[in-house]
Amino acid sequence: MNNPANRRLTGRVALVTGASSGIGEATALTLAAEGARVVIAARRMQRLIDLADRIRQSGGEARPIEADVTNETQASNMVRDTLEAFGRLDLLLNVAGIGVAAPFQNTTTAEYRQMVDVNFLGLLYPIHAALPAMKRQGNGHIVIVSSGTGRYIHPSTVYSGTKHAASAMAESLRREIGKDWIRVTSIEPGAVRTEFTSHMRDEVRASVEQRLGDMVQLESDDVAAAILYAVTQPPHVNVNILTIYPTQQP
Ligand SMILES: NC(=O)c1ccc[n+]([C@@H]2O[C@H](COP(=O)([O-])OP(=O)(O)OC[C@H]3O[C@@H](n4cnc5c(N)ncnc54)[C@H](OP(=O)(O)O)[C@@H]3O)[C@@H](O)[C@H]2O)c1
Repeated sequence: MNNPANRRLTGRVALVTGASSGIGEATALTLAAEGARVVIAARRMQRLIDLADRIRQSGGEARPIEADVTNETQASNMVRDTLEAFGRLDLLLNVAGIGVAAPFQNTTTAEYRQMVDVNFLGLLYPIHAALPAMKRQGNGHIVIVSSGTGRYIHPSTVYSGTKHAASAMAESLRREIGKDWIRVTSIEPGAVRTEFTSHMRDEVRASVEQRLGDMVQLESDDVAAAILYAVTQPPHVNVNILTIYPTQQP
């Protein structure tokens, strides 16, 4: 952990979805190093337990919670558990997501549903559950990890559609709840080197890997640093959108 005098999130409570790997894991580590107490959520509990151990070993505080964000009850329990454990929720980081980066005609209807469920409904349920507490507190910050493909058009039709929905929803929500001192930030990365592509069908993964070639991708820590920037601004500053791409990515 950073020197106590320099920690920027001491006293804050952060709930990170998708914390079992990639960007979510890096975000949890980054926020914990800045003094936040982090609740880390995903479906793979053993990974969360290991991550919580790592955070505690470096002097931080972490609480793992097994939750599927597509399940409204589990998403709501995840928020309730956070509030019961720590009494508040300052930062909600919606990182969980999946993508089949393929054209429409090479995406199955089951894959459409899965992407809509995780990338959109899985975003709405935690926010819905967290907002009443943030309003009571008179402050809060909701971070949505959308994607560059949620702003520009890349050849990943349904994934891109779910991320456009996420980015649009973030901006609309910001306009709705800013008056309550609740901030909303959309993070829109280009290609990040995580296990994201490993969850795609072999054929789709191969075509994505071919498209990326030997381009130097972002690391999860690069995105976590962008998130840290957004959540450490003074309360009157809302960072609306951060688009962050590998230098070589068109
Ligand atoms: N990698 C990229 O190039 C890239 C670029 C732009 C945006 N993004 C976005 O960044 C976010 C994180 O992706 P990543 O690259 O870090 O990929 P990743 O390593 O595959 O991480 C995805 C995370 O989402 C969680 N997740 C998936 N389905 C879930 C569900 N139903 N309920 C709860 N958690 C679920 C996974 O945990 P469990 O499987 O343990 O549940 C995992 O922790 C995603 O929203 C993705 O769309 C990624």
